[in-house]
Parts: sequence; structure tokens; C-alpha cells
Amino acid sequence: MQIQLTEEHEMIRQAARDFAVNDLLPGVIERDEHQKFPAEQIKKMGELGFMGMMVSPQYGGGGMDTISYVLAMTEISKIDASASVVMSVNNSLVCWGLETYGTEAQKQKYLVPLATGQIIGGFCLSEPEAGSDATSQSTTAIDAGDHYILNGTKNWITNGSTASVFLVIAQTDIKKGHKGINAFIVEKAWDGFQVGPKENKLGIRGSDTHSLMFTDVKVPKENRIGEDGFGFKFAMKVLSGGRIGIASQALGIAAGALELATNYARERKAFGKEIMNHQAIQFKIADMATQIEAARNLCLKAAWLKDQHLDYALTSSMAKLYASKIAMEATVEAVQIHGGYGFVKEFHVERLMRDAKITQIYEGTSEVQKIVISRSLLSDK
Ligand code: CAA
Repeated sequence: MQIQLTEEHEMIRQAARDFAVNDLLPGVIERDEHQKFPAEQIKKMGELGFMGMMVSPQYGGGGMDTISYVLAMTEISKIDASASVVMSVNNSLVCWGLETYGTEAQKQKYLVPLATGQIIGGFCLSEPEAGSDATSQSTTAIDAGDHYILNGTKNWITNGSTASVFLVIAQTDIKKGHKGINAFIVEKAWDGFQVGPKENKLGIRGSDTHSLMFTDVKVPKENRIGEDGFGFKFAMKVLSGGRIGIASQALGIAAGALELATNYARERKAFGKEIMNHQAIQFKIADMATQIEAARNLCLKAAWLKDQHLDYALTSSMAKLYASKIAMEATVEAVQIHGGYGFVKEFHVERLMRDAKITQIYEGTSEVQKIVISRSLLSDK
């Protein structure tokens, strides 16, 4: 592996940092408290090119590499993980899935507005009874000639009420198991599409998470992605890349917590000196910084493998597993370093601690990542 960040990478990192500090930081506490979606900020992220970073310019995207995406996701997540999950789902699940496996007509119709940020996308795999066990889909799409009839319920859908277009995974032939699953592009405006109530969440409260219900939704055949039966592999491939995005989100949350903790440790005095001069604090900071550096290297390695068109599924799962674990640990330590101030909202670290938890759950729990990693290592090559 050879990763040398370029001047362009540094410019992208700085642009994301500036945007996060200037546009996301003001109001982040209120948005979290009132579960307010960062609508204006997401619109601006689209205008700045953060919503379709890796999409080819031919389809309105930024044509950037995955390393740039990791850098931008990390900076934005340091400040507002609710905004970064919107960005992550749109970029690495929806846009990447459409650009890699969609037809030219699907790309023109859906990818272009998604990559330019005119609309937002969502990804629907999880169901009330199918989270980690993703092959057990109850949502059905029955072949009815020139269209499918979609019925079922999807749970925990990020961008549930704000997205206009969703990639929906559904069972088309139960007898075929995972080979009888397909992926469809579904528009929210279609008859029979219903958005359920907003979830009241522990963290990433600015993002909108909903159940979605489909009742006899007519999906044109041309909206199926790939060959008949490709849906489960499509979901797995999309999620392998998505896990780089969530690993970067976790990395950003951890790095944001470290920045806040070090700043606080320089200023806060106890027992006659700044707390940074106490070894108890120094040890915590050293552990956090070391873990963050290791997580950063895993994220960059996964991104580099993807950019080199090498197999990245194993490394993206490792990056997500590790970065999400240390995001929990680092944010808990950041709250501890802040003492009582860490427990109140103005100091931001309690929010980071709440936001960190979801990175161990969505796009595959930590246990799912361990399944992916161990299977990859233990299977016959
Ligand atoms: N790429 C290509 N193919 C893959 C693959 C990959 N990364 N992973 C698996 N497959 C293939 C397998 O090769 C196999 O194909 P064959 O039968 O032809 O050999 C097929 O898919 C089935 O694979 P498994 O037998 O490994 O499937 P499994 O039922 O044992 O499940 C699992 C494996 C890893 C647990 C999987 O179900 C999984 O990843 N579950 C978690 C799902 C998940 O991440 N959900 C998150 C929801 S999305 C979300 O959170 C978005 C959001 O809003 C933020």
C-alpha cells in the first residue's frame, strides 16, 4: 500500500473542515435537541459537491477518489454526524450503486440529480424481522409483466422522509433464497408508498430515520438494478463500500472528541495546574490519539484498495469494526476528561458519545463485521 496525500486531497479536507465549522457547527446542538434535519446545510453540501463526490463528472459528480471521500467524511463527522450520515448514504450506497450497476437510462434519470444534490437518496434493506440476517427479506416484488408489485415494510431508513428516491431490496422468488432477491429504484411519489413516523433516536438526531411501507407499489421493470436475482449481491457490494463511509464517520466522531478533549485539557485547571499536566489525562489523550491513528490508517487502506480496484470488503469491515469501537471509547474518555462539563450539551462531547453508538450498529453491526472478517480469513482461497 502506498498512500501519499496530494495537495488536492489537502484542499478537499480543508474545504470540508471550513464547511463543517462555518455551516454545521452553528445550530448543531439545537438540531440535535429538536431532531431538526439540516436541510439548508445538506443543500449547500450538494452545491459544494459533497453529495456525489466519487461520481464521474459525466453524471454531475466530483470525479474524486475514495481517499478524498474519507477525508471529507471525517471532517464533517467531527462536527455533525447527522449531516455526515446523509452524505454517506447518498454517496456510497445510492450513487455508487447506481453508477456501478445501473443502466445508462437509470443513471441519466436518477444518478444525475442525486450526484448534484438536487435530490437525496435512501437505501432500504433492513426490515422489522431482517436486520443482520439480510437474506430473510419479507418485502416482496411480484413479477406482473412489464412491472413488479412491491409490498412490505422497511425499517430504520436514513433519509426516510427527505429522500425522493430509494434503492429497495425485495424478494422476488422465495424458493431461490438469496438468488431470488432483487434491488429496485423506487420513487417516493408513487402510489402506495407511505412514510412512517420519525424515530426518536439516542444519537444522530438531526438525521431523519423512518419506517417505509409499500402497498401494491407498481415498479417498472426498467427500475430493477442488474440481472434478475442480483439484488442480494448488489446489497453486499454496496455495503462493502458503505462501510468505508461509516468507518470514516466513526473516525471523525473520535477525532472530534479528541480535539475537544485536548483543547479543554489545555485550559481547565485543577490542583493548581492545567489538567493536561496531570498524567491521568495525558495517558487518556495518548491512548485516544493512537487508536485514532490506527483507525485512520484502516480507513485510508480500505479507500486505497477501492481506488486501485482491489478487493476491499475485508478491510472495509475491519475499518468499520475498529473505528466504531474506538469512537465509543474515545467519546466516553472525552466526556470523562471534561468532567461535569462533559455531561452538558454546550460542550458537544456528550452528543459525540451518543452519535458514536450507531456506528457500531448500522451498515452491519460489529458482530456482522466479525462474520465478514472471519469468513474471509477462514474460507478456502
Ligand atoms: N460481495 C459480493 N458477494 C457477496 C458479498 C460481497 N461483499 N458478501 C456476500 N456475498 C455473496 C456470497 O458470495 C453468496 O453468494 P453465493 O451463494 O453465490 O456464493 C451470497 O452473497 C450469500 O452470502 P452469505 O452466505 O455470506 O450470506 P449470509 O446470509 O450468511 O449473510 C452477512 C452474510 C454478512 C451476515 C450479510 O447478511 C450482512 O452483511 N448482513 C448485514 C446487513 C447490513 O449491513 N444491513 C445494514 C442495512 S443498510 C443501512 O444501515 C444503511 C443506513 O441507513 C445507514
